Amino acid sequence: MDIRPEPFEPPAPFPRTVPPSRLEIIKVMFRNPLELWGAPSYSLPYIQVKFFGRLTTIANHPGLIRHVLVENAANYAMQPIRQLVLRPILRDGLLTAEGAVWKRSRKAMAPVFTPRHARGFAGKMLRISETFAERYDAAARTGEPVNIAVGMTELTYEILADTLFSGEIATGTEGFADRVDSLLHNMGRIDPLDLLQAPAWIPRLTRIPGKRALSAFRKIVSDTMNARRARMTADPDGVPDDFLTLLLRLEGPEGLTRDEIEDNILTFIGAGHETTARALAWTLYCVSESPHFRLLMEEEIDRVMAEGRDPVEWLEAMPHVRAAFEEALRLYPPAPSINRAPIEDDQWTDENGRTITLPKGTSVLIMPWTLHRHVLYWEKPRHFMPERFLPEHRDRIGRFQYLPFGAGPRICIGATFALQEAVIALAVLMKRFRFDVLAGERPWPVQRLTTQPLNGIAMRVSARPA
Ligand code: HEM
Repeated sequence: MDIRPEPFEPPAPFPRTVPPSRLEIIKVMFRNPLELWGAPSYSLPYIQVKFFGRLTTIANHPGLIRHVLVENAANYAMQPIRQLVLRPILRDGLLTAEGAVWKRSRKAMAPVFTPRHARGFAGKMLRISETFAERYDAAARTGEPVNIAVGMTELTYEILADTLFSGEIATGTEGFADRVDSLLHNMGRIDPLDLLQAPAWIPRLTRIPGKRALSAFRKIVSDTMNARRARMTADPDGVPDDFLTLLLRLEGPEGLTRDEIEDNILTFIGAGHETTARALAWTLYCVSESPHFRLLMEEEIDRVMAEGRDPVEWLEAMPHVRAAFEEALRLYPPAPSINRAPIEDDQWTDENGRTITLPKGTSVLIMPWTLHRHVLYWEKPRHFMPERFLPEHRDRIGRFQYLPFGAGPRICIGATFALQEAVIALAVLMKRFRFDVLAGERPWPVQRLTTQPLNGIAMRVSARPA
C-alpha cells in the first residue's frame, strides 16, 4: 500500500484501562459516551457485560454483526433507549418506525431513493455548493478563521432544503434553520433518566426547550405540505421535482398516511444533513493535516473539472476525494452506535465453536466507533490513511467491519445521496480554496446525535490559483 511514512493521528479518546464507576458512567454518558469505552471494546470480537442491570453485548465480530443486522434481522428491534430519545421527535418516520409501519414505509419510499433520483439532484448540489463557496471569499482575503463545523452544517442544510422543498418552506429559511439547530441540540441527548430506564412519562428536563421548538417546527412542516398539496392540485405539471413532491405522491393506502409523510420529512431533516455535515468537517480537518494526500485530491479535482465532466460522474471520477470522505466516516462515524434488542432469545456461534446467547430484551451494541478503530480489523486504526479506500485496496475491507451507513434491511436509505453530495461539496470547496487548521487546534470528538467536534473546528481559508 502506498502509505506516507507518518500518517496523521487525529484526536480521539484513548481506550480506558480502568473500568469507570457507576456514577462516572452516568456522567460520561451525559457528557460524551465516546469516552466510555475500555480497551476490550477495541480489541475483543465481542463482550457481554451488565450495564445498568441489563445484559449488553458489544458486537465487533463481523460474523456476529452480520447475524444481528442481516441474517436474523427480523428478531431484532430498535433498542428502547434510542427509541425513547428519538421517537417523540420523529414518531413514525423511517428511522424510528418498527414492524408493519416500517415495512410498508420502506417499501413505499425505496423508489424515491434510487441512485437515479440521487443523480437527478447532482446539479442542485453543485449549484448550492458553488454559491456557498462564495461566502469564504472574504475569509480568504482577510485571513479571518472560519468555523468549518458551522459552515458545513449551513451548506448541507441548504442542499437539503433545496432537494427536499426546493426552498419553498412556509417561513423564512433563516428562522427554520435556527429551529432545526435548536431541535437537534436539545432533543437528541440521552438524559440520565433514560439510562436509568425511568418510564417515559417522567419529564426529561434536559429536553423541555426542544419540545417548544418541536411543535413550532411541526407546524411549519405541515403548512409547507399543505401549500405544496394545493399547488399539485392546481398545477400538477408545474410542481418542483423534489423530495416533497415525491413523498406527497406516495399518499394512499398502499403508501404513506399524511402523518407519516410529515414524520418522514422531519426524519430526513434530522438524519439527512447534520450527519453529512459532520463528516465533511472532519474530512477537511484530517485532509489539512495530510498535505501529501491533499495534493493528490487537488490534482484529481483540477483534472476532472478541466475535462468538463458532469457532476453526476464525480463520485466515480474522483476516487481520492471519495476515499478521504470514507476514511473520515471511519474515524468519526456520524452515527457512532447502532443499537438493537433481541425480540426472542437468540444464539450465535463463532468460528471456534463458542456459542453466545443473546437473551430477549437485552441490548446489542454494534458500534462503528469501536469497530472502525478495532485492532483486529485495521492496520494503524487511529490514523487517517485514506489510501485504504482507493479502489485498488478497497476489497481488503470486509463488508461488516466498516458500517458508517449500517447494514441489512435498515441500512441508511440516504447513503448514495450523502456520498454524492459529499464528493461534489468537497470538490467545489477544494477547487477554490485550501483549508488549514489553526496551529494548536485539536478538535475533540463528542457524541451527541452525531459525532461532532466539541467547539467546532477553526480553519484558515486561502484561495487556490484559478
Ligand atoms: C454521511 C451521512 C449519513 C450517515 C453516516 C448515515 C448513517 C445512517 C445509519 C448508520 C443508519 C442505520 C441506523 C440503524 O440501523 O439503526 C441510517 C439510517 C437512515 N438514514 Fe442515514 N446517514 C447519512 C445520511 C442520510 C441522508 C442524507 C438521509 C436522507 C436524506 C438519511 C436518512 C436515513 C433514514 C431515513 C434512515 C432509516 C432507514 C430505516 O431504518 O429503514 N441518512 N443512516
